[in-house]
Amino acid sequence: MANFRRKTESRETRFYELRIEKMVQGGDGMARLPDGRICFVQGALPGELCKVLLTFSKKDFTRGKAIEIIEESPDRVKPFCPHYGKCGGCSLQHLDASRQIEYMERVERENFKRLAHTELPADFRIHFGKPWEYRNRARVVYCGDRGKGERGAFGFRGQESNDVVPFKKCPVLTPALNEFLNGAGRELCAANRDARELNIFDNGAGEVSYFYRGMPKSDFEKNAVSVVDICGKKIESDASVFFQSNLGLLPELVESVRKAVEAGIASGESSDEWLIDLFSGVGFFAALLQDKFKRVTTVEREDGCLKHAKVNLAGTANCENVSAPAEDWLANHVVDVPATLIVDPPRTGLPKEALEAIIASSVNRLIYVSCDPVTLARDYAKFAVAGFSLKQAEGFAFYPQTPHMEMMFVLSR
Ligand SMILES: C[S@@+](CC[C@H](N)C(=O)[O-])C[C@H]1O[C@@H](n2cnc3c(N)ncnc32)[C@H](O)[C@@H]1O
Repeated sequence: MANFRRKTESRETRFYELRIEKMVQGGDGMARLPDGRICFVQGALPGELCKVLLTFSKKDFTRGKAIEIIEESPDRVKPFCPHYGKCGGCSLQHLDASRQIEYMERVERENFKRLAHTELPADFRIHFGKPWEYRNRARVVYCGDRGKGERGAFGFRGQESNDVVPFKKCPVLTPALNEFLNGAGRELCAANRDARELNIFDNGAGEVSYFYRGMPKSDFEKNAVSVVDICGKKIESDASVFFQSNLGLLPELVESVRKAVEAGIASGESSDEWLIDLFSGVGFFAALLQDKFKRVTTVEREDGCLKHAKVNLAGTANCENVSAPAEDWLANHVVDVPATLIVDPPRTGLPKEALEAIIASSVNRLIYVSCDPVTLARDYAKFAVAGFSLKQAEGFAFYPQTPHMEMMFVLSR
């Protein structure tokens, strides 16, 4: 059997000349092989004619890499970064930054139609900010002394392997982070054998905090903890836990969530009785919105977030900061008022039990913030079966030069 499979594979043509039909979720171009199978082509843009090397082949679909662009899209540009194609980040650098929003909107509309069997609202739009130097949070790997007089550099994991691709300056990181990596960060890692992988965070005011596994507690308090000013509110966090990574555009997301919260209360679909912030990190959304509510609950699984959530919500009347999985908290608490609910789960989307518990509760309206449009569409389809409909959808280009996007949905029933 193994021999037979190897034989048929070796007979398969590996190079094709393909016309790219469209861009799909993840940023690849989509084309069709002469036998009708779909081919997802890395590095190709809609409309282009490409010479494609097949890199993966299955009965129903294939993957390939554009190794020559025979007819170029007018939106193609020369990638700015010398590490494009090797480094695991920024795989959309071949697409003109000023056209990325338009392409992403098309991709998201189609993704949603395919996965949730319904259209995104006509007024769906994507907020955008700086295309470069926007990223205020990252995990980098120290490469050590590189010989030939070159000083130790930091890198990101590669596109096709776990190997580290070193860089001198990353064009999407904020200037403060690049400066840190070429100065204090390098000195730290050169002197400390424990510091191999660093989480780095720029608080937007020129202060960089960092974290590495095994960091001594005294050092943690001094160098990992940071305070960020968002929409006039000071939010405490640290470089070991989640925090949003595009501080420039974050106020627009906060503003959209705030308006959605106010509209929910004004319409009576939700109430000011109780704000529940699930997957709350350091209590981010609750800290910015707590003044409108009689009762506030934040729920977050990572223990390291709890102390910050307590600080960020200090002085809030009737407030509870819970350190637990959201699905467990929902299973053990009866939400029998039309509470205002914000969920902001990780890429994997809502755990099944959490989604079912929300449907079974008295919540009639929820604000779903997501960093993965695919799991968002999947979860939406389940909410729709339970009678929820999509009232509002907005996108946030938090990660220019990459195919990733942040979304905010308002659902109600
Ligand atoms: C996308 S982040 C959002 C955090 C926060 N809303 C913010 O904007 O800073 C998702 C958060 O969910 C947490 N998390 C992941 N799975 C969880 C679960 N099952 N229950 C509760 N929290 C979870 C992660 O630790 C992370 O802090």
